[in-house]
Amino acid sequence: MANQSKIRLGICGWGNVATAVYSALSANRGELLKKYNLEIVCIGARRDNPNIKIPSNIKVHRNIFDVLEDDIDIVIELIGGVDVAFQLLSKAFERRINVVTANKAVLFEHGNKLFKAALDKNLSIYFESSVCAGTPIIKLLKTDLAANRISKISGMLNGTTNYILTKMEKGQSYASALSEAQQLGYAEADPKLDVGGIDAAHKIGILASLAFQCPLPLKKFFIEGIESIKKEDFDFAREQGYTIKHLAVAEKQKNKEILVRSHPVLLPFNSNLGSLKGVRNGIEVRTNLIGEVHLAGSGAGKESTASGVISDLIHFSKHRGMQEDFYTSNKFKMAKFSTQSFKYYFSIEAEDKPGTAAKLTSQFAKHQVGIDVLIQKESKKNCTARLIIITDLAEEKIINKLKNNLEKLSLTSDVRFIRIEI
Ligand SMILES: NC(=O)c1ccc[n+]([C@@H]2O[C@H](COP(=O)([O-])OP(=O)(O)OC[C@H]3O[C@@H](n4cnc5c(N)ncnc54)[C@H](OP(=O)(O)O)[C@@H]3O)[C@@H](O)[C@H]2O)c1
Repeated sequence: MANQSKIRLGICGWGNVATAVYSALSANRGELLKKYNLEIVCIGARRDNPNIKIPSNIKVHRNIFDVLEDDIDIVIELIGGVDVAFQLLSKAFERRINVVTANKAVLFEHGNKLFKAALDKNLSIYFESSVCAGTPIIKLLKTDLAANRISKISGMLNGTTNYILTKMEKGQSYASALSEAQQLGYAEADPKLDVGGIDAAHKIGILASLAFQCPLPLKKFFIEGIESIKKEDFDFAREQGYTIKHLAVAEKQKNKEILVRSHPVLLPFNSNLGSLKGVRNGIEVRTNLIGEVHLAGSGAGKESTASGVISDLIHFSKHRGMQEDFYTSNKFKMAKFSTQSFKYYFSIEAEDKPGTAAKLTSQFAKHQVGIDVLIQKESKKNCTARLIIITDLAEEKIINKLKNNLEKLSLTSDVRFIRIEI
């Protein structure tokens, strides 16, 4: 390596992750830069960041596109978002510059075009931090598990939602947990991306494309956020041995269709994923040769993300000149969500009168949905009771009809359900 020329880096963006990458690379008098033959040539920062002063030997461009005019080998894209990032990365390939990015949104929307552009120019695009920040799932799927057939990937892929749900489990309100996550720099600038399940959906889309070679962006799939979960759901879930998490899943079904989904679930409290707390992300990969692989680590935060970005730089440094092979195919079909079956947790607030439970359970019977557990709780609100019901396996479309019909009854005031992952 000592004889090779330096790998010249341009960083685009000067926010949380970019400054953390810079700090980690420059720590201990640039130990990592020296060890892996890297040099930071320029930074695209449309304004200064009060946390870090850029030394005078590094050029600063106020227009991030000017970074591509410098003589660099790799652009590190840390601006986030879709449109400008896509323009920047496309232009980088035109100018024969390799790419490292932590941006799942641009990969989800334009991954295929970007992978093809890199391939056509014999360049590399690395994106370890785009899923689970520094927890190394991308290279694991691309290389270490490459000999395996993967049948399922399940993951808690959004650190912010897990942080919020962990806090709510301890009794904190949704709003205060979200604001705490924002202050700690975990949340995306637009929190809807996190709490609406979209960020996790982008990530499971990227993992599905790696595991099953399906091209990005994936067609529409089921996405639901955590906004309607209530603090008391955790108490009811706990009584039945469950906790609540946001889970993203990609799996091959028997008919070779691929099911992709991103939504809250009840998970057994002591399961591998159920026991992860805070910003930790967790992933289970079901393989044919080594069985189930479990991976967990910090899935948000600037240091963790910087770790993934730097692992990409190190990979480039060690494998310089080697083309990344990445194959996608159109020969797959997305499975319908409406025909999937789950067990469901129902929380129903209704008038506290004799006969209410019978009227409600008769609706379940009418839709041929079996009841496994039924508990009646006194509600704090006047004259209402809360019924907690855990169903047997039932089809999603039947459950949606049942929910609609329960809501139409004059005796109910709040009907919610969460799927149970078994
Ligand atoms: N933070 C995490 O925990 C985490 C984890 C995994 C992946 N990521 C990904 O890492 C990337 C960066 O995240 P971050 O947390 O560092 O975000 P951030 O703190 O908001 O920083 C974004 C930086 O990009 C600049 N920028 C944004 N749009 C720009 C544009 N159109 N032109 C020029 N500059 C622009 C911003 O400039 P201004 O300050 O002037 O707006 C800021 O310097 C994102 O793709 C994110 O999804 C973050």
